[in-house]
Amino acid sequence: MKIIHITDFHLVPPGERLWGLDPCDRLDRCLNDIARWHGDADFCVMSGDLTNRGSQAAYGWIRERLEGFPLETILMIGNHDSRENFIAAFPETGTDRNGFVQSVRDTEHGVFLFLDTVKGPVSEGEYCEQRLAWFADELARVKGKPVWIFMHHPPFDVGISYMDRIKLEEPKKFADVLSAHGDVRHIFFGHIHRAAMLSWRGIPCTSLPGTNHQVPLISESVGGVYSVEPPMYGVILIDGDQTIVHFEACLDRSPVDTS
Ligand SMILES: [Fe+2]
Repeated sequence: MKIIHITDFHLVPPGERLWGLDPCDRLDRCLNDIARWHGDADFCVMSGDLTNRGSQAAYGWIRERLEGFPLETILMIGNHDSRENFIAAFPETGTDRNGFVQSVRDTEHGVFLFLDTVKGPVSEGEYCEQRLAWFADELARVKGKPVWIFMHHPPFDVGISYMDRIKLEEPKKFADVLSAHGDVRHIFFGHIHRAAMLSWRGIPCTSLPGTNHQVPLISESVGGVYSVEPPMYGVILIDGDQTIVHFEACLDRSPVDTS
């Protein structure tokens, strides 16, 4: 099966710019590329920070934009989103039994879990007792099936001090629940605005750049905490025991000069 992963749009109301860039235009061009080359994907996951300040105008823009998008889309929230405004804009997305924006998808290949790690109007993430209980119940229900997880905040350090201060709080509680399942194949996350691959407790984990701005690996290299680097979306291919992730820098792709 094929899944598209894209994250951290930081949309502002149409016509406005963020850090000198146009988030709506950049996402629009990424979605056009996905529709052009990956219309055969099973679904597309958008892993949070859909907006920069949770504005209704930004949610309205993406809702309208997705009406013409050919892939079924799973929308998640991040620390820059407003859970309340998101649910108002996308009431059909649904929530868990406690009102968190998280869900499960059972497929013939395995189970996909989409988690809500938002704490509130702060940058760090949390996974509270209510969410942990829901997570434990779902993992117990699908025991024996392979699981892939999507979440905005990583429950581990990524080696960038600026981001490591605002990861998921209390990662051990999360890890203990996760470990009980025993067959988690991959964790896909956003938040860090970089392409990174790592292994955490034996589980492969992958993140992506955002579609607007990025977080430099070395902040002194650009003299600040944000940078302009190529946006990418992930093309995830799952076949039996193999999970492949390709990184598509679609806005920076062009033919070579053959002259
Ligand atoms: Fe972000």
